[in-house]
Amino acid sequence: MSQEYTIAVLPGDGIGPEVTAEAVKVLRVVETRLGLKLNLNEKPVGGAGYEATGHPLPGETLEAAKEADAVLLGAVGGPQWETIDFSLRPERALLGLRSELNLFANLRPAKVFRALTEASTLKPEVVEGLDILVVRELTGGIYFGEPRGVVTLQGGERRGTNTLVYTESEIVRIAKVAFDVALKRNKKVCSVDKANVLEATGLWREVVTDLHKKEFSGVELSHMYVDNAAMQLVRNPKQFDVIVTTNMFGDILSDEASMLTGSIGMLPSASLGGKTAMYEPIHGSAPDIAGKDMANPLATILSVGMMFKYSLDREDVNTALENVVESILEAGYRTKDIMSKGMKEVGCKEMGDLVVQALEKKL
Ligand code: IPM
Ligand code: MG
Repeated sequence: MSQEYTIAVLPGDGIGPEVTAEAVKVLRVVETRLGLKLNLNEKPVGGAGYEATGHPLPGETLEAAKEADAVLLGAVGGPQWETIDFSLRPERALLGLRSELNLFANLRPAKVFRALTEASTLKPEVVEGLDILVVRELTGGIYFGEPRGVVTLQGGERRGTNTLVYTESEIVRIAKVAFDVALKRNKKVCSVDKANVLEATGLWREVVTDLHKKEFSGVELSHMYVDNAAMQLVRNPKQFDVIVTTNMFGDILSDEASMLTGSIGMLPSASLGGKTAMYEPIHGSAPDIAGKDMANPLATILSVGMMFKYSLDREDVNTALENVVESILEAGYRTKDIMSKGMKEVGCKEMGDLVVQALEKKL
């Protein structure tokens, strides 16, 4: 009997539906070639969820995600929803999914494909062969800490509050993920904090250090303040292997790391921790290019690769997809975001088709 999986597909907003459609084409190829049965359960999320039901994370979307073997998400957000109440913004859907599914560990690999060495704004020798992994804590920290909100003080002035909170157990579990993945890579972890100013991240540093001493002495551990880490990432990114950090620092540093690879349109991600994991490109909904067949679908397609690696126990599919992407780039095909002189510019759909054709030959 063929293996059967249910995948919740949440295209979302902006370029989300376009890049997700290309990733779904890829899923279908893998399904046929591997003799699987994939039940794709498509649901609205973000602005699309809000338009359909009045809430960015409709109940049936959350249910579909919880029941699935894995979730594939495109992107959420857009200017038309920027003025509605905070609790109904598209971004809340993403945060809701992360916390409801207990996805505390976000893996964001920044790998420079050989053919794209020249696409980075940094010198080729700085980024050539770069392969780093940002492990971002995803369900805690200032994104979720209480108290939060905006209140009006006596006299009418308003005050906004957000709170950076981490418990020891939250730090231990994310650090474990980082050390464990480092053992399968170059065995180096750099923990990024702001321990010189923020007590919560002073605790972070202490807990990471203790865990390392007790259980992971085979991994080389270093610590860095976030301001220095931001600088080191552009000065000499190859000094890093795995970076583990808080929710907000990870948000910022992973965008920075993506530019080392040439474009934010290249970076996939996996959010792990609970029973069902979620896979999404790290880029946003890019409303300015939505509907123009200009988006780069490779980050979403590579997220499908991560899904096979982490949720469906087929790391070979991930490897095949990475090789396919490399070969397409070697052949000179580029979406606009990674376009350079002498290359062949293709749209979102054509890039998806190229992956499909090459993958059919490979699997
Ligand atoms: C990301 C995004 C999200 C985040 C936004 C859209 C809520 O920037 O996944 O990196 O801040 O986590
Ligand atoms: Mg971000």
